[in-house]
Amino acid sequence: IKVLSVAPEIFPLVKTGGLADVAGALPRALEAEDVHVATLVPGYPAVMAAIDRAEPVLKAPKLFGGEARVLRAYAGELDLFVLDAPHLFKRQGGPYVGPDGRDWPDNAQRFAALGQTAAQIGLGLAGNFQPDVVHAHDWQAGLAAAYLNYESRSRPGTVITIHNLAFQGQFPADVFPSLGLPPQAFHIDGVEYYGMVGYLKAGLLLSDRITTVSPTYAMEIRAPEAGMGLDGLLRARSGAITGILNGIDVDVWNPETDPLIAKNYTLETLAQRRVNKVALQEDFGLETDSDALLIGVVSRLSWQKGLDLLLANLDVLPRIGAQLVLLASGDPALEEGFRAAAAAQPGRVGAVIGYNERVAHQTQAGADALVIPSRFEPCGLTQLCAMRYGAIPIAARAGGLADTIIDANEMALASGVGSGLLFSPVTGEMLCAALERAARLWVQPEAWARLIENSMTTDVSWRRPAAAYAKLYRDLIAER
Ligand code: ADP
Ligand code: GLC
Repeated sequence: IKVLSVAPEIFPLVKTGGLADVAGALPRALEAEDVHVATLVPGYPAVMAAIDRAEPVLKAPKLFGGEARVLRAYAGELDLFVLDAPHLFKRQGGPYVGPDGRDWPDNAQRFAALGQTAAQIGLGLAGNFQPDVVHAHDWQAGLAAAYLNYESRSRPGTVITIHNLAFQGQFPADVFPSLGLPPQAFHIDGVEYYGMVGYLKAGLLLSDRITTVSPTYAMEIRAPEAGMGLDGLLRARSGAITGILNGIDVDVWNPETDPLIAKNYTLETLAQRRVNKVALQEDFGLETDSDALLIGVVSRLSWQKGLDLLLANLDVLPRIGAQLVLLASGDPALEEGFRAAAAAQPGRVGAVIGYNERVAHQTQAGADALVIPSRFEPCGLTQLCAMRYGAIPIAARAGGLADTIIDANEMALASGVGSGLLFSPVTGEMLCAALERAARLWVQPEAWARLIENSMTTDVSWRRPAAAYAKLYRDLIAER
């Protein structure tokens, strides 16, 4: 089976969140299932700098106002199609926002170009790669299904994965004429969405299959509370939706070999993990107290992640004898809030504001617990990394968090199966209650050791998810 994955970011080249991790790791896992994936990505400067063996396979002389071409290229193990369109992607800044933090004003054109190019590769126009399935990720790739849908030639199957329904790619109706779609596409049965053009809406409506990154999120988004305006459409298409949990790259995230942490360890040599805790406390300027419950955060700062609830309740830390290390960036008010908290409680609270791969690994290796109070979470990857590293997740019972963590309630403890703590509803009170519950377990070394053992032995790899994607592709191909 050949699959064209269409991704607006891919680890390790460009990353703003978990989507990049998924796009980067899933292809390798699928090889074991006899599925070969090539990934179409925009030619951002970081991508252009990383690729080798680049070969032009398709020319687009007038792609949304400029010369463009598609390169087949490689970056490490990644087999790529790169949309080299300097007028759209050759700029300093993020993949979606400029240096001022605002969306690029031409995002409608940039990601229509991605979708249109995906469709052309899907039709077999780029060299000798004829995919059986075009698999789009999030709104940025959503128009791929639209371009293929209005195509008279025979087309490959289409799948769209929702990583986050909060970002939908909606643009004013006046972009429609420039998209090169037939006039009838501007309709409720096409790309039109409340008088605008909806890229995610188009992908959800016009793809053969929809996946979410966890089974629970697949259910949640059918209700108005989590559906973000698309719940009606998603209810109508519920027969086409499958929830497939994410995995993580267990080679990148491996405490036994991780070159970014102070001391490597395994479940068998767990005592060594202490070295990482001390190093983390020192790096964040905290007291090197081995009895303190060291709680970590590795996150974007946005409403989704619920970290405002933690910030508003930091007085719980001294009460339960805990410390906090936070590595995060995003919402400027929250960044400032955590900076101020670190200044107000030195020795107990440390904050690194920014994006830092190394500190992320060090936090997973050194913290005793990782707190994730998300208001919604399509899957979440940090709890999977935490489990692999023996940092006990304390998380909201939402989306993929609910699907990956077994709450250490009384029965789970009695049966010896708990791997973390879950709380709901997602309020400051319940977060504090969960932290207090964690602190009570922390002072019972045997119970805590059991949590660590259960966490570290949980299979968080891509093995099972890859098999589920392979089955989805096979079923889709068989049906067409
Ligand atoms: P989301 O994609 O919603 O941000 P995920 O948990 O799926 O959430 O993925 C987040 C990814 O980004 C993880 O790989 C995590 O380690 C990483 N990450 C988040 N914030 C930071 C940060 N400040 N520094 C380094 N890595 C981060
Ligand atoms: C999104 C979601 C996150 C998920 C990630 C990868 O960014 O917020 O929950 O893990 O995509 O699928």
